[in-house]
Amino acid sequence: MPGPTLQLKPVQPLSSRKSENRRLSDKHGREIHYLRVSLTDACNLRCVYCMPEHMKFRPQSENISLAEYRRLLPLFHALGFDKFRFTGGEPTLHPQLTELIAETAALPGAPFVALTTNGMLLPKLARPLKTAGLRRVNISLDTLDPARFRQMSRRDGLDAVLRGLDAAEAAGLEIKLNAVTVRNFNEEDFVPLARFSLDRPWQVRFLEMMPFGNNEHFQNGQRVEEDSVKARIEAALGKLEPVGNGLDGEARVYRVPGAKGTVGFISPVSAPFCGDCNRARLTADGKLRLCLLKDDEVDLLTPLRKGADNAALENIVRAGIWEKPWGHELAFRRFSHNRGMSEIGG
Ligand code: 5AD
Ligand code: SF4
Repeated sequence: MPGPTLQLKPVQPLSSRKSENRRLSDKHGREIHYLRVSLTDACNLRCVYCMPEHMKFRPQSENISLAEYRRLLPLFHALGFDKFRFTGGEPTLHPQLTELIAETAALPGAPFVALTTNGMLLPKLARPLKTAGLRRVNISLDTLDPARFRQMSRRDGLDAVLRGLDAAEAAGLEIKLNAVTVRNFNEEDFVPLARFSLDRPWQVRFLEMMPFGNNEHFQNGQRVEEDSVKARIEAALGKLEPVGNGLDGEARVYRVPGAKGTVGFISPVSAPFCGDCNRARLTADGKLRLCLLKDDEVDLLTPLRKGADNAALENIVRAGIWEKPWGHELAFRRFSHNRGMSEIGG
């Protein structure tokens, strides 16, 4: 189902808060300077909370090509985007990931470049990606038990992911772990996963499951309360102390006393962080998606393929960002229907 078409408004003035500030603002006053780039909807796993077992992926010809990324990514950078995250589906399946990271990291001012991955291909890729300029990897890992891994991702792969983690650490990448919390699936894993933070400088984050139209029943039915995840961890490892002001982006961050790393909780449904949102998303088929959990998108790839120049494309981005919706409306049972998580990449 196509998303709503946005009415493009006159070009938004560049942010006027600071004269040197090139960043775009939306009409709610939020500066939007973090672009999450979904490189593909394809994946080598089939996580139960993300996609159906027999998922059909989009043909590559419908996706942005390397030459087209070479137009679009510098254009976003020129509009003040200074943090880029490559995501998927599974971004390590993209044949030109290393080039894309190298070219993005080499843009003026050296933007922060991160990757969200399931880690399966990191044993080979961690070092070349680090050399290319990657700073941080967020590795999805929901369980440390091989049978539960198979149950949650419908594939074998725990071994590869653990080797991927080792490779990322050896390459000197900053590491965050993402574990989606799913009732009756991985409750036994919360404590073992949190234990990683004791002797490693990682942030281990527990993600509350978000509903999308294609899988809403499962996602809403199996959600775990953040408090119950926290209680389990505290019962085993001791009281969690807030770190700094307690926030790191969208995560509420704690430390087990004496631990090297931290434990974070991201609960977009029960504790939305829309007021501080600074992100936009570029889907693999070339749409600027304005909110993870809403259908609003503007098409960039069609005008680019029809010959639009940079000024025209920039105007489309500016006008789209200005119209970024305030936030999700999950509390009113309004879900996104046009794409599932694997087409957006979190
Ligand atoms: N709710 C919350 N997190 C999800 N992820 C995938 N699907 C969902 C969902 N429905 C996670 C992935 C990955 C990150 C991008 O989002 O496991 O860590
Ligand atoms: Fe693949 Fe990530 Fe979706 Fe799992 S959550 S199926 S690893 S895209």
